[in-house]
Amino acid sequence: MKKYYEQDDQVIYNCDNLDLLKSLKSNSINLIYCDILYNTGKVFDDYNDNIGDTEYAINWYRERIIEMKRVLKDNGSIFLHCNWRLDSYMRILMDEIFSPTCFRNRIYRRHSKERGFYRNFDSQVDIILYYVKDPANFIFNENISETEKVTPLFENGYIKERSKTLDFNGIKIDFKKLNKHYLISKKELMKLYKNNEIIFIDNLPYRKSYIMPTGNLWDSDEMLDNYSRNKVFDSYDTPKPEAVIEKIIKTCSNEGDTVADFFLGGGTTAVVAKKLKRKGIYCDISKKACDVTIKKLKEIQ
Ligand SMILES: C[S@@+](CC[C@H](N)C(=O)[O-])C[C@H]1O[C@@H](n2cnc3c(N)ncnc32)[C@H](O)[C@@H]1O
Repeated sequence: MKKYYEQDDQVIYNCDNLDLLKSLKSNSINLIYCDILYNTGKVFDDYNDNIGDTEYAINWYRERIIEMKRVLKDNGSIFLHCNWRLDSYMRILMDEIFSPTCFRNRIYRRHSKERGFYRNFDSQVDIILYYVKDPANFIFNENISETEKVTPLFENGYIKERSKTLDFNGIKIDFKKLNKHYLISKKELMKLYKNNEIIFIDNLPYRKSYIMPTGNLWDSDEMLDNYSRNKVFDSYDTPKPEAVIEKIIKTCSNEGDTVADFFLGGGTTAVVAKKLKRKGIYCDISKKACDVTIKKLKEIQ
């Protein structure tokens, strides 16, 4: 397959994604994120969101997802971003191709603030289906923040019942001698230690704190669509916010891994993946989408 662009381990193909997928090596990609066609029937400036009726659309996706599974590495993950029109059908299709045991989650991403619907509840979320190729072996980084990495579990000052000597499997800390006391009970401390939630710095216990919310409702402001954030202009239709894709890439891949997006659009995945030092394989049938992405990639130092 002819490459449209290649630089800094980022490769873009301008073709039908099925043709590209068929040409890719098996077991070669760590993470796939695709913001697929929702099949709304709308014709946007930049692409036509119309595959056909639902049955036709699901068959259209079936052959592509079979290939996506093939190219995914054994410990790889796949995220398909869709909405209420296709999500239930896509879930069944993914179960059929991957197996229900490979289903990890259905993520609800809030895309907009209330818009005022007529005779209905406003539909404010879209759906990201998350599957892994092997439920016994996949990457899931909890992503400890560099800045808020740890919280001390002690304070200065001697308190008789909280300044004893504790033994964390050979790491002995004499709080009395250090003129310090621990902030929670010995029992709670030991439980955290057992759960691998404590790290030791200068022989003192700190609690690991995770900045990644672990729930499947992604509704922070930074994850809203552009128009809900009053950021109206983008060089390509229906871009997804970087924060959504950043969270997926950070959690389910490591630096140097290969990320793929076969419905590239304005290139959000490519931009985030490059910033996060991942390799990338991207595809869009639209030349404009590829060109917009290339421009954005070149702007990243
Ligand atoms: C919803 S947009 C993706 C938007 C993207 N997530 C972003 O942040 O900009 C879907 C894209 O899929 C592309 N597309 C549709 N059918 C395709 C096909 N068969 N092969 C490759 N790309 C396709 C469209 O041209 C469109 O750019």
